[in-house]
Amino acid sequence: MGFVLIVDFGGQYAHLIARRIRELGVYSELLSASSDLETILDFAGRSQGVVLSGGPLSVTEGRHDEIAKSLLRLGKPLLGICYGHQLLAKVLGGSVGRSPAPEFGPTKVELSPDELFEGIPAKVTVWMSHNDAVLEAPPGAKVLARTRGSPVAAMRYGAHWSVQWHPEVSHTQYGLQMYDNWLRAIGARRDWRPENMIEELTEMVRREIGGSLAVSAVSGGVDSTVASLIVKRAIGERLVPILIDHGLHPAGEPELSIALLENVGLKPLVIKAEEEFFSALKGIREPEEKRRAFGRLYARLLEDQAERLGAEFLVQGTIYPDVIESGGRVGASVIKTHHNVAGMPKQLRFKVVEPLKWFYKDEVRAIGRKLGVPEEILRRQPVPGPALAVRVEGEVTRERVELVRRADAIVREEIEGAGIGGLWQYFAVLTSSKATGVKGDERAYGHVIAIRAVESVDAMTASIARLPWEVLERIAARITGEVPGVTRVVYDITSKPPATVEWE
Ligand code: XMP
Repeated sequence: MGFVLIVDFGGQYAHLIARRIRELGVYSELLSASSDLETILDFAGRSQGVVLSGGPLSVTEGRHDEIAKSLLRLGKPLLGICYGHQLLAKVLGGSVGRSPAPEFGPTKVELSPDELFEGIPAKVTVWMSHNDAVLEAPPGAKVLARTRGSPVAAMRYGAHWSVQWHPEVSHTQYGLQMYDNWLRAIGARRDWRPENMIEELTEMVRREIGGSLAVSAVSGGVDSTVASLIVKRAIGERLVPILIDHGLHPAGEPELSIALLENVGLKPLVIKAEEEFFSALKGIREPEEKRRAFGRLYARLLEDQAERLGAEFLVQGTIYPDVIESGGRVGASVIKTHHNVAGMPKQLRFKVVEPLKWFYKDEVRAIGRKLGVPEEILRRQPVPGPALAVRVEGEVTRERVELVRRADAIVREEIEGAGIGGLWQYFAVLTSSKATGVKGDERAYGHVIAIRAVESVDAMTASIARLPWEVLERIAARITGEVPGVTRVVYDITSKPPATVEWE
């Protein structure tokens, strides 16, 4: 199977580049620019082409010149995006400096005819985000686009191309078409179908686990279910699925999850640990610390079970974006500590098996579908590992969790009752704000509940759902009427980025 390598300079959208390329049927992988040069060149040498991503640094600092020069010497076709565009221009002898007019957001650009732009109108709107710009093209390069802030907004140098904008974000018109054209230009093989990987994954897991026993942490969510099914295919009854009942589940859970899991042949061993979770979270207000405390206890409970059963392996439903977001990227900060990756203590007593760690969410769904997982599970909205603990701002107490659980149930009932489909997630958050209201004839000073509803393909970016006002009003009326102590309901209208989906 061929693949495209993306050298990640810490750009916010590097993972989106990978997603787009996979969507076009070519496997792609991200490798941090902080990996050693030998590794980068080894990957690049085996790839069909290399994308140089965007990034927060300035190429004038010269941090990555060596990587770019070595890749040029290697002779694989390169595609530079944003920072990658400037890096290529610089090492090829062009000039890069402060843009005469830094561009952020939608920008009109005029394209010159080139195979990279085939099928794309000459005038399009693209998404820009840059302070520096390529001021002069390298000798021998052909300038393919100009804007006010980017004298060289796109260029071609032999078999290499680069653009200042981000064709991977949905705000860029014809962005996917541009990647498609590039893949055609470099002759990339379109042989990536995640669901065709099942046999290979099963075999990999079988080799990894050998004759040992494994436990898997299941939640009834898509990722852990699909991961466990693959392992079950590999080792059969030597897999013991475990569901930890931490008392932080949304309403109706974990009962519903247990029933769904039983239906797909993954009857879980249920460990009740509500008391332990509330005491482990007591007094903690800081979101990352909450996640770590949750992760520590979760890991310990699993370890205890694994030890009791004599299991050497732990199966986790970690997917590619979790690996990336937990600090797998250079220059980008750890956005959140996902409990199933970095939130777990480093030293675990068992070995971790992560059959899905190279896949994006929609790819996991495709695999699940092929394995016969019902749509009911595949379409379930994700719940973060620490569940309602990260949907209660500030301290996690039983009362506060119960409050958000009741509000959350109303949000679900009303949205589902109105027949609104196609949402990625919809839920309630108990904020730490207080606001004045009137209840009966009395002034009340109570809690503020925030409603979040987003549309997304893979949670790496998300846009807010435009819920009908009637539905929002009904939700507000019911929450203030039915959930004691709530005086106000607000609707979160922030997309990701800049916000994340969850509040904590
Ligand atoms: P954010 O808030 O980072 O969330 O935009 C992206 C997606 O990930 C889910 N999420 C988690 N999933 N463990 C998980 O497996 C976690 O700790 C976790 N935290 C957030 C979130 O619900 C959204 O769909």
